[in-house]
Amino acid sequence: MRKEIAEQPDAIRRVLSGRLEPRFSTTHLGGLELAARELLEAKRVKILGCGSAYIAGCVGAQLIEQLARIPAHAEPASEFRYRNPVIEADTLYIAVSQSGETFDTLSAVQEVKRKGARVFGIINSVGSTIARECGRGLYLHAGPEVAVVSTKTFTSTAVAFALFAIYLGRLRDLSAANGARLLAALSALPAQVEAILAQEDRIATIATAFAKTRDAYFVGRAAGYPVAMEGALKLKEVSYVHAEAYPASELKHGPLALIAPETPTLIVLPRDDLFSKNVSTIEEIRARRGPTYVVTHPQPVPVPVDGVIEVPKSEPELDPILLNLPLQLLAYHVALQRGTDIDKPRNLAKSVTVE
Ligand code: F6R
Repeated sequence: MRKEIAEQPDAIRRVLSGRLEPRFSTTHLGGLELAARELLEAKRVKILGCGSAYIAGCVGAQLIEQLARIPAHAEPASEFRYRNPVIEADTLYIAVSQSGETFDTLSAVQEVKRKGARVFGIINSVGSTIARECGRGLYLHAGPEVAVVSTKTFTSTAVAFALFAIYLGRLRDLSAANGARLLAALSALPAQVEAILAQEDRIATIATAFAKTRDAYFVGRAAGYPVAMEGALKLKEVSYVHAEAYPASELKHGPLALIAPETPTLIVLPRDDLFSKNVSTIEEIRARRGPTYVVTHPQPVPVPVDGVIEVPKSEPELDPILLNLPLQLLAYHVALQRGTDIDKPRNLAKSVTVE
């Protein structure tokens, strides 16, 4: 897991390789095989995947809505296939999978195709079953991911969604200036990830607080929420600490009852329009004597917290990609301190090829 976390700067370089088109402030996605006219006809985007692939889809849906201003939504493929979903010809479906073999995602793709809608894949494993079933899409080229939990493919998938969202945005209303701004930010990501990885010792120190607990909470708002979801999933998978993610605004509708001095909360705190709202969330947790840890951008946090992890600032739309990185290292170090089998967590398989 640690090796694959460390490979992320190169993995991002490979997703980006040959796909930036600075001349037109857009991206070039050869494998999509969807004409501009077909993409323009799409009224909605629906993203399907399982586990971390689904959560990467949640990041992708927000990117598509922000940059292309078209409704986009992610749903666990495992749920979608069982609920007799309404499948519409003017919805564009995207299947996400590292292995390309996840049975639930494959079944969802087959259902979409059977009902005549367009689907493409964002897949890591070249020539895999889902990649072949989709017949078109983007390969991540993140390289083999051997540890059971997804790290570099999660990040690479989010970057691939950014490429697609810029492409779709530039077909629609995204200005050339905004396209250029995002291309520059994408190119800066690998070096920024390296800067985050260099903080590993500090993250390992913060991990001690999470290694001692039975329960932990991860909260984020809007684009920060999928970051919280992925942070909680990673922690529970490798360390077996019970970790739950909540949208920050939902805390007061129930989960606040669980905040206590022995229960740490990780708050995703980007420097964005919602900063002061997220600071209020920290205050709500502190008022219940809950320990608070934040992953944030370099600038002082205006309220006392128990620990701070800083990530470099990107453009607001791409911030979630970097905010997630320290949470992978956090999960890894909590697991290391608790002595679990990090690369092969109990009860989990790398590729879930059964129903
Ligand atoms: C999380 C994890 C799983 C997978 C899920 C989908 O760390 O590894 O949740 O993301 O089983 O797998 P793929 O992407 O192969 O379809």
